Amino acid sequence: MKKVLCIFSSFWSPVILLHVLLGGSLELCTGQNENGFSRNCFPPNFIFGAGSSAYQVEGAAYEDGKTPSIWDTFTHAGKMPDKSNGDIAADQYHRYKVNVKLMADTGLDIYRFSISWSRIIPNGRGPINPKGLEYYNNLINELTIHGIEPHVTLFHYDLPRTLEDEYKGWLSRKIVKDFIAYADVCFKEFGDRVTTWTTINEANVFVLGSYQMRYNPPQRCSLPFGARNCTSGNSTTEPYIAAHNILLAHASTARLYKNKYQDKQHGVIGINLMTYGINLLTNSIEDIAATRRANEFYVGWFADPLFFGDYPESMKRNVGSRLPSFTPYEAKLVRVSCDFLGVNHYGMLNIKDNPESLKIQQRDFNLDMAALQIADWSSPGVVLPDFPGTPSGLQRDLEYIKQVYRNPPIYIHENGQTSSRAARDTSINDTSRVAYLKGYIEGVLDALRNGSNTKGYFT
Ligand SMILES: *[C@@H]1O[C@H](CO)[C@@H](O)[C@H](O)[C@H]1NC(C)=O
Ligand SMILES: *[C@@H]1O[C@H](CO)[C@@H](O)[C@H](O)[C@H]1NC(C)=O
Ligand SMILES: *[C@@H]1O[C@H](CO)[C@@H](O)[C@H](O)[C@H]1NC(C)=O
Ligand SMILES: *[C@@H]1O[C@H](CO)[C@@H](O)[C@H](O)[C@H]1NC(C)=O
Repeated sequence: MKKVLCIFSSFWSPVILLHVLLGGSLELCTGQNENGFSRNCFPPNFIFGAGSSAYQVEGAAYEDGKTPSIWDTFTHAGKMPDKSNGDIAADQYHRYKVNVKLMADTGLDIYRFSISWSRIIPNGRGPINPKGLEYYNNLINELTIHGIEPHVTLFHYDLPRTLEDEYKGWLSRKIVKDFIAYADVCFKEFGDRVTTWTTINEANVFVLGSYQMRYNPPQRCSLPFGARNCTSGNSTTEPYIAAHNILLAHASTARLYKNKYQDKQHGVIGINLMTYGINLLTNSIEDIAATRRANEFYVGWFADPLFFGDYPESMKRNVGSRLPSFTPYEAKLVRVSCDFLGVNHYGMLNIKDNPESLKIQQRDFNLDMAALQIADWSSPGVVLPDFPGTPSGLQRDLEYIKQVYRNPPIYIHENGQTSSRAARDTSINDTSRVAYLKGYIEGVLDALRNGSNTKGYFT
Protein backbone atom coordinates (compact mmCIF):
# COMPACT_ATOMS: atom_id res chain seq x y z
CA MET A 1 0.00 0.00 0.00
CA LYS A 2 2.75 2.39 0.96
CA LYS A 3 4.38 2.17 -2.46
CA VAL A 4 1.12 2.94 -4.22
CA LEU A 5 0.38 5.88 -1.97
CA CYS A 6 3.77 7.49 -2.54
CA ILE A 7 3.19 8.12 -6.22
CA PHE A 8 0.22 10.36 -5.49
CA SER A 9 0.49 13.94 -4.42
CA SER A 10 -0.60 14.69 -0.88
CA PHE A 11 -3.64 16.43 -2.36
CA TRP A 12 -5.20 13.03 -3.00
CA SER A 13 -4.48 11.34 0.29
CA PRO A 14 -7.97 11.94 1.74
CA VAL A 15 -9.45 10.26 -1.35
CA ILE A 16 -7.17 7.29 -0.92
CA LEU A 17 -8.10 7.01 2.75
CA LEU A 18 -11.73 7.01 1.72
CA HIS A 19 -11.09 4.04 -0.51
CA VAL A 20 -9.06 2.26 2.12
CA LEU A 21 -11.95 2.73 4.54
CA LEU A 22 -14.65 1.71 2.10
CA GLY A 23 -13.00 -0.69 -0.26
CA GLY A 24 -11.53 -3.09 2.24
CA SER A 25 -14.38 -5.52 2.31
CA LEU A 26 -16.62 -7.27 -0.14
CA GLU A 27 -18.45 -9.04 2.66
CA LEU A 28 -22.10 -8.42 3.23
CA CYS A 29 -22.80 -5.50 5.49
CA THR A 30 -22.56 -7.32 8.77
CA GLY A 31 -20.73 -4.57 10.62
CA GLN A 32 -18.14 -7.17 11.54
CA ASN A 33 -15.22 -6.01 9.42
CA GLU A 34 -12.32 -3.98 10.77
CA ASN A 35 -13.97 -0.61 10.07
CA GLY A 36 -17.41 -1.60 11.23
CA PHE A 37 -18.83 -0.87 7.78
CA SER A 38 -18.10 -1.25 4.08
CA ARG A 39 -19.25 0.14 0.72
CA ASN A 40 -22.14 -2.26 0.49
CA CYS A 41 -23.62 -1.00 3.76
CA PHE A 42 -24.66 2.05 1.71
CA PRO A 43 -27.48 2.09 -0.85
CA PRO A 44 -26.22 1.10 -4.35
CA ASN A 45 -27.00 4.57 -5.76
CA PHE A 46 -25.24 6.37 -2.87
CA ILE A 47 -22.24 8.22 -4.31
CA PHE A 48 -18.76 8.84 -2.92
CA GLY A 49 -16.69 11.68 -4.33
CA ALA A 50 -14.04 14.30 -3.71
CA GLY A 51 -14.22 18.05 -4.12
CA SER A 52 -12.21 21.18 -4.79
CA SER A 53 -12.74 24.86 -5.60
CA ALA A 54 -11.45 26.85 -8.56
CA TYR A 55 -9.21 29.25 -6.66
CA GLN A 56 -7.67 26.45 -4.60
CA VAL A 57 -6.65 24.26 -7.56
CA GLU A 58 -6.64 26.04 -10.92
CA GLY A 59 -3.77 28.50 -10.79
CA ALA A 60 -3.35 30.40 -14.11
CA ALA A 61 -4.83 33.29 -12.16
CA TYR A 62 -3.99 35.89 -14.82
CA GLU A 63 -3.84 33.74 -17.94
CA ASP A 64 -5.89 33.43 -21.12
CA GLY A 65 -8.18 36.34 -20.36
CA LYS A 66 -9.12 35.60 -16.75
CA THR A 67 -9.40 38.78 -14.69
CA PRO A 68 -8.84 39.01 -10.91
CA SER A 69 -11.46 37.84 -8.46
CA ILE A 70 -11.77 39.30 -4.97
CA TRP A 71 -9.57 36.39 -3.82
CA ASP A 72 -6.71 37.38 -6.16
CA THR A 73 -6.82 40.91 -4.76
CA PHE A 74 -6.99 39.61 -1.19
CA THR A 75 -4.03 37.23 -1.43
CA HIS A 76 -1.91 39.71 -3.38
CA ALA A 77 -2.40 42.23 -0.60
CA GLY A 78 -0.64 39.68 1.63
CA LYS A 79 -3.77 38.88 3.63
CA MET A 80 -3.20 35.13 4.04
CA PRO A 81 -1.42 34.32 7.34
CA ASP A 82 1.33 32.57 5.36
CA LYS A 83 1.26 35.22 2.56
CA SER A 84 0.38 32.52 0.04
CA ASN A 85 -1.70 33.05 -3.10
CA GLY A 86 -3.45 30.94 -5.74
CA ASP A 87 -1.44 32.12 -8.76
CA ILE A 88 -0.27 28.56 -9.39
CA ALA A 89 -2.09 26.49 -6.74
CA ALA A 90 -2.27 22.86 -7.94
CA ASP A 91 -1.81 24.14 -11.51
CA GLN A 92 -4.93 22.27 -12.54
CA TYR A 93 -5.56 24.69 -15.41
CA HIS A 94 -2.52 23.18 -17.15
CA ARG A 95 -2.36 19.77 -15.50
CA TYR A 96 -6.02 18.74 -15.61
CA LYS A 97 -5.24 15.64 -17.67
CA VAL A 98 -2.71 14.38 -15.13
CA ASN A 99 -5.10 15.15 -12.27
CA VAL A 100 -8.05 13.40 -13.90
CA LYS A 101 -5.81 10.38 -14.54
CA LEU A 102 -4.91 10.34 -10.83
CA MET A 103 -8.60 10.55 -9.95
CA ALA A 104 -9.35 7.62 -12.25
CA ASP A 105 -6.44 5.57 -10.87
CA THR A 106 -7.76 6.25 -7.38
CA GLY A 107 -11.18 4.92 -8.35
CA LEU A 108 -13.03 8.19 -7.90
CA ASP A 109 -16.65 8.17 -9.15
CA ILE A 110 -17.56 11.85 -8.77
CA TYR A 111 -15.50 15.03 -8.85
CA ARG A 112 -16.89 18.27 -7.46
CA PHE A 113 -15.29 21.47 -8.72
CA SER A 114 -16.25 25.13 -9.07
CA ILE A 115 -16.17 27.44 -12.06
CA SER A 116 -14.28 30.73 -11.87
CA TRP A 117 -16.80 33.40 -12.91
CA SER A 118 -14.08 35.84 -14.03
CA ARG A 119 -12.50 33.16 -16.23
CA ILE A 120 -15.79 32.68 -18.11
CA ILE A 121 -16.97 36.30 -18.12
CA PRO A 122 -13.92 38.51 -17.38
CA ASN A 123 -15.90 41.69 -16.67
CA GLY A 124 -18.43 39.91 -14.51
CA ARG A 125 -21.04 40.51 -17.19
CA GLY A 126 -20.94 40.93 -20.95
CA PRO A 127 -18.49 39.24 -23.31
CA ILE A 128 -17.67 35.56 -22.81
CA ASN A 129 -14.03 34.41 -22.77
CA PRO A 130 -13.68 31.48 -25.25
CA LYS A 131 -10.47 30.29 -23.53
CA GLY A 132 -12.39 29.99 -20.27
CA LEU A 133 -15.08 27.87 -21.90
CA GLU A 134 -12.38 25.77 -23.54
CA TYR A 135 -10.70 24.91 -20.21
CA TYR A 136 -13.94 23.76 -18.56
CA ASN A 137 -15.02 21.86 -21.68
CA ASN A 138 -11.66 20.08 -21.70
CA LEU A 139 -11.88 19.26 -17.99
CA ILE A 140 -15.47 17.99 -18.25
CA ASN A 141 -14.67 15.91 -21.33
CA GLU A 142 -11.59 14.43 -19.69
CA LEU A 143 -13.66 13.47 -16.63
CA THR A 144 -16.38 11.97 -18.83
CA ILE A 145 -13.86 9.91 -20.81
CA HIS A 146 -12.62 8.44 -17.51
CA GLY A 147 -16.13 7.71 -16.27
CA ILE A 148 -16.01 10.36 -13.56
CA GLU A 149 -19.17 12.39 -13.11
CA PRO A 150 -18.74 16.16 -12.67
CA HIS A 151 -20.70 18.03 -9.97
CA VAL A 152 -20.31 21.76 -10.51
CA THR A 153 -20.48 24.75 -8.14
CA LEU A 154 -21.10 28.15 -9.76
CA PHE A 155 -19.88 30.39 -6.94
CA HIS A 156 -17.19 29.34 -4.48
CA TYR A 157 -16.24 32.76 -2.98
CA ASP A 158 -14.30 34.14 -5.99
CA LEU A 159 -16.46 37.04 -7.16
CA PRO A 160 -15.14 38.98 -10.19
CA ARG A 161 -13.29 42.01 -8.80
CA THR A 162 -15.05 44.29 -11.32
CA LEU A 163 -18.46 43.63 -9.71
CA GLU A 164 -17.11 44.32 -6.22
CA ASP A 165 -15.65 47.63 -7.44
CA GLU A 166 -18.68 48.65 -9.46
CA TYR A 167 -21.56 48.01 -7.05
CA LYS A 168 -20.16 46.22 -3.95
CA GLY A 169 -20.95 42.72 -5.22
CA TRP A 170 -23.42 40.81 -3.09
CA LEU A 171 -24.53 43.94 -1.23
CA SER A 172 -26.33 45.14 -4.35
CA ARG A 173 -29.50 43.73 -5.87
CA LYS A 174 -27.75 44.21 -9.24
CA ILE A 175 -25.82 41.01 -8.60
CA VAL A 176 -28.95 38.93 -9.20
CA LYS A 177 -29.15 39.79 -12.90
CA ASP A 178 -25.42 39.28 -13.46
CA PHE A 179 -25.35 35.96 -11.61
CA ILE A 180 -28.28 34.63 -13.67
CA ALA A 181 -26.54 35.64 -16.90
CA TYR A 182 -23.30 33.90 -15.82
CA ALA A 183 -25.20 30.77 -14.80
CA ASP A 184 -27.08 30.78 -18.10
CA VAL A 185 -23.76 30.60 -19.98
CA CYS A 186 -22.67 27.63 -17.82
CA PHE A 187 -25.96 25.72 -18.25
CA LYS A 188 -25.93 26.35 -22.01
CA GLU A 189 -22.27 25.41 -22.56
CA PHE A 190 -21.78 22.57 -20.04
CA GLY A 191 -25.28 21.36 -19.13
CA ASP A 192 -25.27 18.56 -21.72
CA ARG A 193 -22.60 16.82 -19.57
CA VAL A 194 -23.07 18.42 -16.13
CA THR A 195 -26.32 17.43 -14.43
CA THR A 196 -25.72 18.38 -10.79
CA TRP A 197 -25.41 22.13 -10.14
CA THR A 198 -24.80 23.98 -6.89
CA THR A 199 -25.33 27.74 -7.08
CA ILE A 200 -23.48 29.03 -3.99
CA ASN A 201 -20.95 27.28 -1.76
CA GLU A 202 -21.38 27.76 2.00
CA ALA A 203 -23.67 30.76 1.67
CA ASN A 204 -23.76 31.20 5.47
CA VAL A 205 -19.99 31.06 5.98
CA PHE A 206 -19.32 33.34 3.02
CA VAL A 207 -21.64 36.00 4.36
CA LEU A 208 -20.37 35.88 7.95
CA GLY A 209 -16.69 35.64 7.00
CA SER A 210 -16.90 38.47 4.49
CA TYR A 211 -19.40 40.97 5.96
CA GLN A 212 -19.35 40.38 9.71
CA MET A 213 -15.92 39.06 10.77
CA ARG A 214 -13.68 40.36 7.97
CA TYR A 215 -11.79 37.05 7.62
CA ASN A 216 -12.46 36.77 3.89
CA PRO A 217 -12.70 39.19 0.99
CA PRO A 218 -14.28 41.67 0.54
CA GLN A 219 -13.32 42.03 4.24
CA ARG A 220 -16.10 44.26 5.47
CA CYS A 221 -17.09 44.82 9.11
CA SER A 222 -17.73 47.64 11.57
CA LEU A 223 -16.44 48.33 15.06
CA PRO A 224 -16.68 46.90 17.67
CA PHE A 225 -17.32 43.74 15.63
CA GLY A 226 -15.04 41.80 13.33
CA ALA A 227 -11.96 39.74 14.03
CA ARG A 228 -9.65 42.24 12.32
CA ASN A 229 -9.48 46.02 11.95
CA CYS A 230 -12.73 47.29 10.51
CA THR A 231 -12.28 50.03 7.94
CA SER A 232 -15.42 49.73 5.84
CA GLY A 233 -18.66 47.86 6.21
CA ASN A 234 -21.46 47.44 8.71
CA SER A 235 -21.58 44.19 10.71
CA THR A 236 -25.07 44.94 12.02
CA THR A 237 -26.73 45.13 8.60
CA GLU A 238 -24.58 43.91 5.72
CA PRO A 239 -24.54 40.14 6.44
CA TYR A 240 -28.35 40.13 6.29
CA ILE A 241 -28.41 42.16 3.06
CA ALA A 242 -25.81 39.97 1.34
CA ALA A 243 -27.64 36.80 2.45
CA HIS A 244 -30.91 38.14 1.07
CA ASN A 245 -29.34 38.88 -2.32
CA ILE A 246 -27.70 35.44 -2.35
CA LEU A 247 -31.10 33.82 -1.76
CA LEU A 248 -32.68 35.85 -4.57
CA ALA A 249 -29.79 35.13 -6.96
CA HIS A 250 -29.91 31.42 -6.15
CA ALA A 251 -33.68 31.25 -6.55
CA SER A 252 -33.78 33.19 -9.82
CA THR A 253 -31.02 31.00 -11.21
CA ALA A 254 -32.82 27.83 -10.14
CA ARG A 255 -35.99 29.09 -11.83
CA LEU A 256 -34.01 29.73 -15.03
CA TYR A 257 -32.58 26.20 -14.90
CA LYS A 258 -35.95 24.62 -14.22
CA ASN A 259 -37.77 26.61 -16.93
CA LYS A 260 -35.18 26.53 -19.69
CA TYR A 261 -32.88 23.53 -19.16
CA GLN A 262 -34.18 20.89 -16.74
CA ASP A 263 -36.51 19.13 -19.23
CA LYS A 264 -33.74 18.79 -21.81
CA GLN A 265 -30.76 18.21 -19.55
CA HIS A 266 -32.43 16.17 -16.78
CA GLY A 267 -30.28 17.71 -14.08
CA VAL A 268 -30.81 19.03 -10.56
CA ILE A 269 -29.91 22.29 -8.84
CA GLY A 270 -29.32 23.16 -5.19
CA ILE A 271 -27.38 25.37 -2.80
CA ASN A 272 -24.72 24.56 -0.18
CA LEU A 273 -24.57 25.50 3.52
CA MET A 274 -22.14 24.80 6.32
CA THR A 275 -23.72 22.93 9.23
CA TYR A 276 -22.24 23.19 12.69
CA GLY A 277 -23.17 20.10 14.69
CA ILE A 278 -24.72 22.47 17.20
CA ASN A 279 -24.23 20.92 20.63
CA LEU A 280 -25.70 21.58 24.06
CA LEU A 281 -23.42 22.49 26.93
CA THR A 282 -26.08 21.92 29.59
CA ASN A 283 -29.61 20.53 29.63
CA SER A 284 -31.18 23.73 30.96
CA ILE A 285 -34.34 24.93 29.21
CA GLU A 286 -32.50 28.14 28.26
CA ASP A 287 -29.59 26.31 26.65
CA ILE A 288 -31.91 23.97 24.77
CA ALA A 289 -33.73 27.02 23.38
CA ALA A 290 -30.38 28.66 22.53
CA THR A 291 -29.36 25.53 20.65
CA ARG A 292 -32.54 25.64 18.60
CA ARG A 293 -31.97 29.35 17.94
CA ALA A 294 -28.38 28.73 16.83
CA ASN A 295 -29.58 26.18 14.27
CA GLU A 296 -32.18 28.67 13.06
CA PHE A 297 -29.61 31.45 12.73
CA TYR A 298 -26.88 29.38 11.08
CA VAL A 299 -28.93 27.04 8.89
CA GLY A 300 -32.54 28.27 9.04
CA TRP A 301 -31.40 31.71 7.83
CA PHE A 302 -31.13 30.14 4.37
CA ALA A 303 -32.98 26.83 4.69
CA ASP A 304 -36.23 28.29 6.10
CA PRO A 305 -36.72 30.62 3.09
CA LEU A 306 -35.74 27.78 0.72
CA PHE A 307 -38.16 25.25 2.22
CA PHE A 308 -40.85 27.43 3.86
CA GLY A 309 -40.58 30.80 2.08
CA ASP A 310 -39.57 33.00 5.03
CA TYR A 311 -36.88 33.64 7.65
CA PRO A 312 -37.20 31.90 11.05
CA GLU A 313 -39.37 33.67 13.63
CA SER A 314 -36.42 33.92 16.05
CA MET A 315 -34.46 35.89 13.45
CA LYS A 316 -37.34 38.20 12.62
CA ARG A 317 -37.83 38.88 16.34
CA ASN A 318 -34.17 39.47 17.27
CA VAL A 319 -32.88 41.14 14.10
CA GLY A 320 -36.01 43.26 13.57
CA SER A 321 -35.94 45.84 10.79
CA ARG A 322 -32.35 45.00 9.86
CA LEU A 323 -33.58 41.71 8.39
CA PRO A 324 -34.83 42.25 4.82
CA SER A 325 -38.22 40.77 3.98
CA PHE A 326 -39.53 38.81 1.00
CA THR A 327 -42.42 40.05 -1.11
CA PRO A 328 -45.06 37.32 -1.65
CA TYR A 329 -43.66 36.85 -5.16
CA GLU A 330 -40.07 36.43 -3.88
CA ALA A 331 -41.18 34.11 -1.09
CA LYS A 332 -42.75 31.78 -3.66
CA LEU A 333 -39.71 32.03 -5.93
CA VAL A 334 -37.30 31.12 -3.13
CA ARG A 335 -39.45 28.30 -1.72
CA VAL A 336 -39.38 26.07 -4.78
CA SER A 337 -35.75 26.54 -5.70
CA CYS A 338 -33.84 23.54 -4.26
CA ASP A 339 -33.74 20.03 -5.67
CA PHE A 340 -31.18 19.16 -2.99
CA LEU A 341 -29.31 20.74 -0.10
CA GLY A 342 -25.52 20.59 -0.11
CA VAL A 343 -23.95 20.30 3.33
CA ASN A 344 -20.37 21.08 4.33
CA HIS A 345 -19.32 19.91 7.76
CA TYR A 346 -16.01 20.04 9.61
CA GLY A 347 -16.65 20.26 13.33
CA MET A 348 -19.05 21.38 15.98
CA LEU A 349 -20.09 24.32 18.11
CA ASN A 350 -21.09 24.14 21.77
CA ILE A 351 -23.89 26.58 22.50
CA LYS A 352 -24.88 28.39 25.67
CA ASP A 353 -27.72 30.87 26.17
CA ASN A 354 -26.67 34.55 26.31
CA PRO A 355 -29.82 36.62 27.01
CA GLU A 356 -27.81 39.72 28.01
CA SER A 357 -26.77 40.30 24.41
CA LEU A 358 -30.26 41.44 23.40
CA LYS A 359 -29.94 44.42 25.75
CA ILE A 360 -27.15 45.81 23.56
CA GLN A 361 -28.40 48.35 21.00
CA GLN A 362 -25.90 47.81 18.16
CA ARG A 363 -25.94 44.07 17.51
CA ASP A 364 -24.23 41.84 14.99
CA PHE A 365 -25.23 38.28 14.04
CA ASN A 366 -23.72 36.74 17.19
CA LEU A 367 -25.46 39.17 19.54
CA ASP A 368 -28.73 38.79 17.60
CA MET A 369 -28.45 35.02 18.08
CA ALA A 370 -28.11 35.57 21.86
CA ALA A 371 -25.92 32.51 22.23
CA LEU A 372 -22.32 31.97 23.26
CA GLN A 373 -20.44 29.68 20.94
CA ILE A 374 -17.48 27.54 21.79
CA ALA A 375 -15.99 26.05 18.65
CA ASP A 376 -14.25 22.73 18.42
CA TRP A 377 -13.11 22.27 14.84
CA SER A 378 -10.14 20.10 15.58
CA SER A 379 -11.49 16.99 17.25
CA PRO A 380 -12.29 13.90 15.27
CA GLY A 381 -16.02 13.28 15.18
CA VAL A 382 -15.61 10.05 17.09
CA VAL A 383 -14.36 11.62 20.29
CA LEU A 384 -16.69 14.61 20.52
CA PRO A 385 -18.83 14.88 23.63
CA ASP A 386 -22.27 14.18 22.27
CA PHE A 387 -25.89 13.46 22.96
CA PRO A 388 -26.40 9.83 23.81
CA GLY A 389 -26.82 7.78 20.65
CA THR A 390 -25.43 10.35 18.20
CA PRO A 391 -21.77 9.68 17.53
CA SER A 392 -21.06 12.75 15.44
CA GLY A 393 -22.25 16.29 14.88
CA LEU A 394 -22.79 15.54 11.20
CA GLN A 395 -25.24 12.76 12.06
CA ARG A 396 -27.06 15.20 14.34
CA ASP A 397 -27.24 17.77 11.52
CA LEU A 398 -28.57 15.21 9.05
CA GLU A 399 -31.27 14.25 11.57
CA TYR A 400 -32.07 17.93 12.11
CA ILE A 401 -32.51 18.57 8.38
CA LYS A 402 -34.59 15.41 8.03
CA GLN A 403 -36.96 16.40 10.81
CA VAL A 404 -37.21 20.18 10.29
CA TYR A 405 -37.17 20.36 6.48
CA ARG A 406 -39.12 17.16 5.74
CA ASN A 407 -36.21 15.08 4.57
CA PRO A 408 -34.90 16.74 1.39
CA PRO A 409 -32.18 15.04 -0.69
CA ILE A 410 -28.75 15.95 0.74
CA TYR A 411 -25.22 15.80 -0.61
CA ILE A 412 -22.46 16.07 1.96
CA HIS A 413 -20.21 18.17 -0.25
CA GLU A 414 -17.29 18.66 2.12
CA ASN A 415 -15.98 16.83 5.14
CA GLY A 416 -12.41 16.24 6.17
CA GLN A 417 -9.63 17.03 8.54
CA THR A 418 -6.61 19.21 7.89
CA SER A 419 -3.29 17.85 8.97
CA SER A 420 -0.02 19.72 9.30
CA ARG A 421 2.16 20.09 6.23
CA ALA A 422 4.79 17.90 7.89
CA ALA A 423 2.26 15.11 8.38
CA ARG A 424 1.04 15.45 4.80
CA ASP A 425 4.50 15.37 3.31
CA THR A 426 6.11 12.67 5.39
CA SER A 427 3.55 10.49 7.04
CA ILE A 428 1.45 7.88 5.37
CA ASN A 429 0.27 6.58 8.74
CA ASP A 430 -2.32 9.31 9.03
CA THR A 431 -4.23 7.71 11.90
CA SER A 432 -6.00 10.80 13.16
CA ARG A 433 -7.52 11.50 9.77
CA VAL A 434 -8.53 7.87 9.38
CA ALA A 435 -10.32 8.12 12.72
CA TYR A 436 -11.98 11.38 11.69
CA LEU A 437 -13.28 10.03 8.36
CA LYS A 438 -14.35 6.76 9.94
CA GLY A 439 -16.31 8.59 12.63
CA TYR A 440 -18.11 10.84 10.18
CA ILE A 441 -18.85 8.14 7.60
CA GLU A 442 -20.27 5.99 10.40
CA GLY A 443 -22.42 8.94 11.45
CA VAL A 444 -23.71 9.27 7.87
CA LEU A 445 -24.49 5.56 7.77
CA ASP A 446 -26.39 5.77 11.05
CA ALA A 447 -28.36 8.75 9.73
CA LEU A 448 -29.18 6.84 6.53
CA ARG A 449 -30.36 3.86 8.56
CA ASN A 450 -32.59 6.23 10.52
CA GLY A 451 -34.22 7.49 7.30
CA SER A 452 -32.08 10.47 6.18
CA ASN A 453 -32.34 11.16 2.45
CA THR A 454 -28.58 11.69 2.07
CA LYS A 455 -27.48 10.82 -1.46
CA GLY A 456 -23.72 11.17 -1.35
CA TYR A 457 -20.56 11.95 0.59
CA PHE A 458 -17.55 13.92 -0.68
CA THR A 459 -14.21 14.27 1.04
C1 LIG B 1 -4.88 47.05 12.96
O1 LIG B 1 -4.41 48.31 12.57
C2 LIG B 1 -3.27 48.74 13.29
C3 LIG B 1 -2.95 50.14 12.87
O2 LIG B 1 -2.96 50.28 11.48
C4 LIG B 1 -2.13 47.76 13.02
O3 LIG B 1 -0.98 48.11 13.76
C5 LIG B 1 -2.56 46.35 13.43
O4 LIG B 1 -1.57 45.42 13.07
C6 LIG B 1 -3.85 45.97 12.74
N1 LIG B 1 -4.32 44.70 13.27
C7 LIG B 1 -4.71 43.70 12.48
C8 LIG B 1 -5.15 42.46 13.18
O5 LIG B 1 -4.74 43.77 11.26
C1 LIG C 1 -25.04 50.40 10.28
O1 LIG C 1 -26.31 50.60 9.72
C2 LIG C 1 -27.32 50.97 10.67
C3 LIG C 1 -28.65 51.01 9.95
O2 LIG C 1 -28.56 51.76 8.79
C4 LIG C 1 -26.94 52.29 11.30
O3 LIG C 1 -27.89 52.62 12.29
C5 LIG C 1 -25.56 52.19 11.94
O4 LIG C 1 -25.16 53.43 12.43
C6 LIG C 1 -24.56 51.68 10.92
N1 LIG C 1 -23.29 51.42 11.57
C7 LIG C 1 -22.14 51.87 11.10
C8 LIG C 1 -20.90 51.51 11.87
O5 LIG C 1 -22.05 52.52 10.07
C1 LIG D 1 0.39 3.94 12.92
O1 LIG D 1 0.19 4.70 14.10
C2 LIG D 1 -0.54 4.02 15.11
C3 LIG D 1 -0.83 5.01 16.23
O2 LIG D 1 0.28 5.78 16.53
C4 LIG D 1 0.27 2.79 15.58
O3 LIG D 1 -0.47 2.10 16.56
C5 LIG D 1 0.52 1.89 14.37
O4 LIG D 1 1.34 0.80 14.75
C6 LIG D 1 1.18 2.65 13.24
N1 LIG D 1 1.24 1.79 12.05
C7 LIG D 1 2.30 1.73 11.25
C8 LIG D 1 2.20 0.82 10.06
O5 LIG D 1 3.31 2.39 11.44
C1 LIG E 1 -34.31 8.64 14.28
O1 LIG E 1 -35.48 9.18 13.67
C2 LIG E 1 -36.55 9.39 14.56
C3 LIG E 1 -37.75 9.80 13.74
O2 LIG E 1 -37.45 10.88 12.89
C4 LIG E 1 -36.15 10.41 15.60
O3 LIG E 1 -37.20 10.63 16.51
C5 LIG E 1 -34.91 9.93 16.34
O4 LIG E 1 -34.45 10.92 17.23
C6 LIG E 1 -33.81 9.59 15.35
N1 LIG E 1 -32.70 8.95 16.07
C7 LIG E 1 -31.46 9.46 16.10
C8 LIG E 1 -30.45 8.66 16.84
O5 LIG E 1 -31.14 10.50 15.58
